[in-house]
Amino acid sequence: MSHFLTSPVGKKFIMSITGIFLMLFLIVHLTVNSLLMVGPDAFNSAAHFMTTNSFIMVLEPLLALGFIIHIIYSAYLTMQNQRLRPVHYKKVDRWGSSTWPSRNMFILGGLVLIFLVIHLSNFFWKVKFGDLDTVMVQGTQMHDLYGLVSALFINWWWYDLIYILGALFLALHLSHGFWAAFQSLGWDNDLWRVRLKRIAYVFAVIMGVGFSSIPVYFLITSG
Ligand code: HEM
Repeated sequence: MSHFLTSPVGKKFIMSITGIFLMLFLIVHLTVNSLLMVGPDAFNSAAHFMTTNSFIMVLEPLLALGFIIHIIYSAYLTMQNQRLRPVHYKKVDRWGSSTWPSRNMFILGGLVLIFLVIHLSNFFWKVKFGDLDTVMVQGTQMHDLYGLVSALFINWWWYDLIYILGALFLALHLSHGFWAAFQSLGWDNDLWRVRLKRIAYVFAVIMGVGFSSIPVYFLITSG
């Protein structure tokens, strides 16, 4: 087992599985966050459900583990590749698949990571360790997460910019990462390569436009 995990196939497998796990998280996260554009009660109720549901409470530490493994493995693999290939040779682009994002996955991942550190200090840290206001929604008392998020986006325009850039970096990272993850798991024939690339672009655009539309929404409606 430990031999598999340190073999080239094993490392790609771990990157793919943790990457797919992160994509599922992003779908759920964007769905809940979109409710910010519906209204305070809708978003606060959904966020309250996410923090009190026991299934999701078990899933959260697993997600954190997935994030950490994905990041450590990618840094390790990139450094190892550079060590094994000190002389830069011209890569043969057999499938015509070398795009700017595919050549810069490590940099894009690093930029997403910087965004994530800022993001977690904005919200996650305050939810876990801060002193948030509470509101009453249909007889249930809960954190006013809507107040926290909307205040940030309304009062600090440069945070809007950071979140729009974060969504852009994430979309570029996903435009390659999505299909590469499935390809590494064995879906590697001509037909599926074309299909997965298309799905990857659609997924990346939905995530990029979806996450950036939230700060844009607050910029427009507050201005
Ligand atoms: C407009 C965009 C976004 C908004 C409004 C937003 C909002 C939030 C909020 C309110 C929390 C705290 C939830 C809680 O602890 O109860 C949170 C947590 C988190 N966000 Fe975001 N988020 C956005 C984009 C992103 C993106 C693009 C990523 C990934 C690259 C991301 C990753 C995370 C992670 C890992 C957590 C901690 C785990 C969790 O609490 O679910 N977020 N986000």
